[in-house]
Amino acid sequence: MTPAALGGLARLPRAARRAARALLADPAEFITRVAAELRALTERNHPDFTYVVDENWEAELHDYLGAETSCSSAAELAPLWEDVVGTLAAAGVAAGPMSYLGWNDGDPAFIRAIWCLIRHLSAHRVVETGVAHGVTSRFVLEALARNGGGHLWSIDLPPQLHPELHWQIGLAVDARLRDHWTLVAGSSRRRLPGLLKDVGSIDLFVHDSLHTEFNVLFEMHQAWKALRPGGAIVVDDIDANPGFHAFCMAVPHARSWVCQSAPLRPDYRRSDDKGKFGIVMKEKK
Ligand SMILES: C[S@@+](CC[C@H](N)C(=O)[O-])C[C@H]1O[C@@H](n2cnc3c(N)ncnc32)[C@H](O)[C@@H]1O
Repeated sequence: MTPAALGGLARLPRAARRAARALLADPAEFITRVAAELRALTERNHPDFTYVVDENWEAELHDYLGAETSCSSAAELAPLWEDVVGTLAAAGVAAGPMSYLGWNDGDPAFIRAIWCLIRHLSAHRVVETGVAHGVTSRFVLEALARNGGGHLWSIDLPPQLHPELHWQIGLAVDARLRDHWTLVAGSSRRRLPGLLKDVGSIDLFVHDSLHTEFNVLFEMHQAWKALRPGGAIVVDDIDANPGFHAFCMAVPHARSWVCQSAPLRPDYRRSDDKGKFGIVMKEKK
């Protein structure tokens, strides 16, 4: 930035200064974000959709995958959770809801679903959107390692008005796992189509980025085209908009579940203090 531009910025109020800096740092992403915010405003007029939890989702999912509900996931996950929560705590971060600005870290039920899908599908190629502290990323990478190898591609647009928080992106991901991880900076709107074209067929897609109806549908339709038969999409915070439901209506032969989240602390912004996530599986051939 030129000294003249810096002088001009100094005279602006703080919020406007942050916005101006973000615009100058990455004009394309800034404009994409503004467009997303404007679209989100129009979504407020859409009719609400109430998701009803499938109480037996875990047993039904395991049955569908040909696995035992009492699989080894609980034993495998317990020590990893201890390590993840400890790693975040050592950096001064309390894992759970609203731990990264207003964003939540992946909760234990969401992580268990992703873990079991990766393990029972013998997944090797996973794409996710929304990294924040990297809780989901860490568990995906650990599950892939237990499958004997694989790769995770993650897209994250760090909060543009809070550059001071960018160091926390991927905090939970161990150095030993990073060779199997590609982190792409930017919005899913701009980065996902190109990434999926480069990666080719995927076993699993995880949405945990911008929870607007438009963005959920955009990501799910993109990922569905790249998903192999029998593969899965997992979407966090489906109760934020009707996008997951609309997508499932558009793929009538797919199997889907509405699942109850299990946050580490109550999330008082949700009607049930917990929230919901969804799973949809592409027909096996
Ligand atoms: C809910 S958090 C992700 C939590 C993460 N899965 C975990 O378990 O730790 C959402 C993340 O998505 C990022 N994000 C927001 N809008 C985005 C977009 N349009 N594309 C990609 N990432 C976005 C946020 O900055 C934040 O880092």
